[in-house]
Amino acid sequence: MANTPLLLTTLFLLSALYLTTANPTNFIKSSCSTTQYPTLCVESLSAYATTIQQDPHQLVQTALSLTLNRTQSTKAFVSRCKNFRGLKPKEYAALHDCSEEISDSVDRLSRSLKELKMCTIKGEDFTWHISNVETWVSSALTDESTCSDGFAGNAMNGKIKTSIRARMVNIAQVTSNALSLVNQYAANH
Ligand SMILES: *[C@@H]1O[C@H](CO)[C@@H](O)[C@H](O)[C@H]1NC(C)=O
Repeated sequence: MANTPLLLTTLFLLSALYLTTANPTNFIKSSCSTTQYPTLCVESLSAYATTIQQDPHQLVQTALSLTLNRTQSTKAFVSRCKNFRGLKPKEYAALHDCSEEISDSVDRLSRSLKELKMCTIKGEDFTWHISNVETWVSSALTDESTCSDGFAGNAMNGKIKTSIRARMVNIAQVTSNALSLVNQYAANH
């Protein structure tokens, strides 16, 4: 009988460990299963499992924040590419347009994050705010693919084209996943 408290403590610690390790991953896995790029979705969100827990709002917020951060660093990369020597006018023009599109995308994603916060405020219209989030994330996705399309032609420098397109594909996939998590959140509310 003397060992009962110890046993209870051990059981408590084990279940706490289980809750912080196994469950969030299952939650993330099942939420990601309906996205277009489930493997990428699980990979990118698993690092935040302890923050996300099983909270659908936190899941969406993390997905959007991650998308915004990656888009911001791609924006910086595109700006640096504009300084490359020996760019053809056509390449420079494509980089310039891409810079603007990606800036718009960053703006829309940061507005979406602010708008998402409104969804949890009592007395605020959830449906209205979440539909704004859906609209802006969806426009951000369009901006990103417009940028990629600008680099589709054969006239483009192979190296620049390859590195820009690879980054754009990655952020477009991350954005698409975030959008489907937003849609899921809206539908389940
Ligand atoms: C995105 O960047 C901000 C600011 O640097 C940081 O606070 C936040 O945790 C990052 N989000 C993710 C999901 O890593």
